Amino acid sequence: VSGNDSDALRPVKGMRDFYPADLRKRAWIFDLWRRVALSYGYEEYDACVLESEELFVRKAGDEVTEQLFNFVDKGGRRVSLRPEVTPSLVRMLRAAGSEVSYPARWFSIPQCFRYERAQKGRKREHYQWNMDIVGLATPAAEIELMSAQASFLRAAGLVVGGATSQVVFRVSNRQVLEHFLGELGITGDDFVATCILMDKRDKVAADYIVGELVARGVSADSARRILALLDVRGLPALRDAVGEQNPGYRALSELCALGAESGIGETLSVDLSVVRGLSYYTGTVWELFSTTGSVGRAIAGGGRYDRLMETLGGAPTPMVGFGFGDVVISLLLEELKLVPALPARVDDVVYPMKAAYFGTAARLAAALRADDRSVLVELSERRFKHVLKRVGELGAARLFVLGEDEMASGAAKVMFTDGTRREEVVALSSLVPGFQAP
Ligand code: HAM
Repeated sequence: VSGNDSDALRPVKGMRDFYPADLRKRAWIFDLWRRVALSYGYEEYDACVLESEELFVRKAGDEVTEQLFNFVDKGGRRVSLRPEVTPSLVRMLRAAGSEVSYPARWFSIPQCFRYERAQKGRKREHYQWNMDIVGLATPAAEIELMSAQASFLRAAGLVVGGATSQVVFRVSNRQVLEHFLGELGITGDDFVATCILMDKRDKVAADYIVGELVARGVSADSARRILALLDVRGLPALRDAVGEQNPGYRALSELCALGAESGIGETLSVDLSVVRGLSYYTGTVWELFSTTGSVGRAIAGGGRYDRLMETLGGAPTPMVGFGFGDVVISLLLEELKLVPALPARVDDVVYPMKAAYFGTAARLAAALRADDRSVLVELSERRFKHVLKRVGELGAARLFVLGEDEMASGAAKVMFTDGTRREEVVALSSLVPGFQAP
């Protein structure tokens, strides 16, 4: 490392450092995620952040495949930092075979890497809360997953549902397009590629998409009808557009009915513009958006992927789940002032006034820690005023002072910070097992 402007002295582009105050915020979110997932009966798993590149290489212009953070390792293997955890989940389940009983409910909070253009709400690294249900084909699985997302949002202080709802689940189903396109002769990989193309619709001109579709053999008229389909909102309009027999329409009707019975109906909004940039989705797809704040990006995204297990060589297994990143939700919670004050905290401070008392201080702290207290030993030898200020900042309940008088009599002065300014002198032999007074 040489010079102040060396790249080595900055985080790599798109990566974040977490200073303690940042990490407390992150931990607050992770803790809510974990508590919600556990409260729904999900088991936590993880895989390695480094995987074989091949696990993520999917055809048809998949968004994630194009953004791999990949390289060749010293052994000549093509590897990649994981852009998402879903393929690792499928790989693990396939390897475990019958050792895992279905339906399985698993969750994870992986760090994921995507080599994409950094912008508001987008980094090249993020943490992503995932919950997935394995082995259930019923839309009750989707509703459970959305309910869990809603539980987290409420726990974080957002209004979910009702006239003032701050979030909305935009839901669609790929079978709507699949059957619509099937009638136009676009099937299999061409269908998947068309989905990915449609997902880019906000970023490119409509004429470009029409041109691409025409290049795939669709008439210009049909291409425009396909594009118009993405503007459909709500079940009645969808029925008018594709007919009651469309399996995607039927699945969405069932999903919305169940959502209403389950208490999250009013946050669901049928929105055909949601296609998602990942190629493996086969049925329901949804994205979570906020209705307030300045971040226009999806907070979370999920969907049903009933064929990925087969694609990776396993037995057919219905799967559905979501990924919920930490970046967008953090921006939103900050904007809405919902992040609580999260100061550094300890239970007790031990203050040896001279270096000669450090050993005794260490033994006292160890005894208090054995009682499940978090204890900071103030080793600065600084003045009492300074120490009192630190005690206040750390919100410590007690300050144990080891001064000359106390040490001479084998005691500690205990000062309580509960506003009473109560003090008492306590024999160290009653606090520290085996302590011999001088
Ligand atoms: P995804 O939509 O690609 O889905 O990502 C899910 C969420 O991760 C996004 O909504 C966003 O919150 C966050 N995210 C993704 N990329 C970035 C980025 N570059 N910077 C910041 N946040 C980001 C998936 O990854 C699927 N594997 C989710 C899933 C699980 N589907 C089924 N099970």
